[in-house]
Amino acid sequence: MGSLDEFARAKLAGLERAGLRRAPVVTDREGIWVEREGCRLLSFSCNDYLNLSRHPALVEAAIAATHRYGVGAGASRLVTGNHPLYDELEARLARLKGSEAACVFGSGYLANTGIIPALVGPGDLILIDELSHACIHAGAKLSGATVLPYRHADAAHAQTLIAAHRSGKPHALIVTDGVFSMDGDLAPLPQLAEVAQRYDAWLLADDAHGLGVVGAGRGSSFASGTDVPLQMGTLSKAIGAYGGYLCASRAVIDLMRTRARTFIYSTGLPPPVVAAATAAVDLIERDRDLVAAPLRKAKAFARALALPEAQSAIVPVILGEAEAAVAASRLLMEEGFLVVAIRPPTVPAGTARLRFALTAQHPDDEVERLAGIVRRRVLRR
Ligand SMILES: Cc1ncc(COP(=O)(O)O)c(C=O)c1O
Repeated sequence: MGSLDEFARAKLAGLERAGLRRAPVVTDREGIWVEREGCRLLSFSCNDYLNLSRHPALVEAAIAATHRYGVGAGASRLVTGNHPLYDELEARLARLKGSEAACVFGSGYLANTGIIPALVGPGDLILIDELSHACIHAGAKLSGATVLPYRHADAAHAQTLIAAHRSGKPHALIVTDGVFSMDGDLAPLPQLAEVAQRYDAWLLADDAHGLGVVGAGRGSSFASGTDVPLQMGTLSKAIGAYGGYLCASRAVIDLMRTRARTFIYSTGLPPPVVAAATAAVDLIERDRDLVAAPLRKAKAFARALALPEAQSAIVPVILGEAEAAVAASRLLMEEGFLVVAIRPPTVPAGTARLRFALTAQHPDDEVERLAGIVRRRVLRR
């Protein structure tokens, strides 16, 4: 027991010295406002892009579902956890994404770590954008396939790698974030789809940050008009609830339901969460102005900082070392803003940053004030 604690303390001390120790901070969120460490702050660190997590339609749907079905699913979906609310959510997700069918998982992380190993295995090939989310890397590793990272957003590099390694592999998968979670840029889906077609590979795009924000709310494949056969995402960001999903052909979805281990061996989502997610899909389909707002605000913010045009609701300001990002985050906190510093290993070493997430309800004058402070006091321009 002593050596176990010593091990943990030594690890923590090393992380502390490198400015990389992390710990959750109690945050009382009330829409775009949060209370943290005794301060009331305007948050730019929340992925609730459409501010739906407290929307009355979602809250009421969750309450009604709780009264009818209770707060827990009680078992895995293949046992007795497949409560009646799942059918409607999956049908609505498939309709929104233009796919034959959809399958809901316990979270986005569980979706990627279930989907990828259900499609490819030892002897197969996975090409993965080097900046893809951690759960894509985890799913790829779990599959036992050969994993080759290609340079960020570089379809030509993906093509070079697949040309050299495709032969002799029964199956190949190309996986990328649709909108990159820490950079906010869009994947080159049309070019990746071409590579996939040329080399008989399957394309999977993780649309965690695209759904509800780009492509008129339908996600990154719709932003570029690309046919992506495997559209994965989360229900925890613009949807405002919790869970993950895959939209694909009926055959692929049926395969997930019988082979994806994170679907089979994990309890179904709580009924109120599923009901809330369905209410959110409804709003995304109906409210064009709401869906357009985060990207419009992100573009204005990036313009005010003379940064490249924002492609999503995420605007990164890269500062380099972890200490610089932490110091900038503190400074903004003193000005009344919550912008959490993003450090390695979430981003590559030397690219610690402030990651600004713009949401529909952020007041334009506050966005402008924040941009002014960042420009003068962080970027010193
Ligand atoms: C690109 C991407 N994929 C997957 C996930 C995981 O989704 P979830 O939070 O639902 O597990 C996230 C976010 O955390 C993400 O940013």
